Amino acid sequence: MLAIMGGTGLTQLSNLEIVRREVARTPYGEPSGALTFGSLAGRQVVFLARHGYGHTIPPHLVNYRANIWALKHAKATALVSVASVGGIRADLEPGVLVVPDQIIDYTWGRKNTYFDGGDEPVRHIDLTHPYDAALRQRLLTAAARAGEGAVDGGVYAVTQGPRLETAAEVNKLERDGADVIGMTAMPEAALARELDLPYAAINVVVNAAAGRASSAEGIRFERIEDVVQESMGRVRHILEALCQD
Ligand code: HPA
Repeated sequence: MLAIMGGTGLTQLSNLEIVRREVARTPYGEPSGALTFGSLAGRQVVFLARHGYGHTIPPHLVNYRANIWALKHAKATALVSVASVGGIRADLEPGVLVVPDQIIDYTWGRKNTYFDGGDEPVRHIDLTHPYDAALRQRLLTAAARAGEGAVDGGVYAVTQGPRLETAAEVNKLERDGADVIGMTAMPEAALARELDLPYAAINVVVNAAAGRASSAEGIRFERIEDVVQESMGRVRHILEALCQD
């Protein structure tokens, strides 16, 4: 069963035929909301809105451990994350979809592991490739089949938020090799790996990162809202195509 984690702009999947909702309890507390089970293009899917169904949970307060644990224990066999990002690279303009292949983690103070001491022996996971290669490929193929362009590969810088970055910070992230900036891919990707849940993402570029050419006058939030609305329809198409493969 495919799990979909919806980010900003995707608090519900309008093309999902909902069968039931389930409030999950986990050893790590409560997930961001009830798990929504349903079918998408005839395939069983479980959906969760990362920031809560009312979009009230900021990135640094999302209970990532509970979210991933709940999806794994709902018998998800793969997790696709949908997340809005700012574009650093010039060609990654608002409206562009990216299937990232790397992550740099700048977050701090988040509960970022299930291996937190106690009786369990220490485990170090291999995160060389934080996104699952096969699932990435399926996403790219689905995007092509849906007739939606998606950029293959990109480095996602994960900032702490909830504030956006300064222009100098964006320059630093670019020097570090980042292509897009968001606030949620970590610890999500690492936790999914700890539970052996294949994880890949569709990023929606919703703004040019702070200080970049087209945002010279500052970041315009009304414009972001428009891009989010338009782009999430395309993401829904891709997810539908993914369910048909
Ligand atoms: N920075 C960080 N996170 C984001 C941005 C951004 O510019 N846009 C959407 N999520």
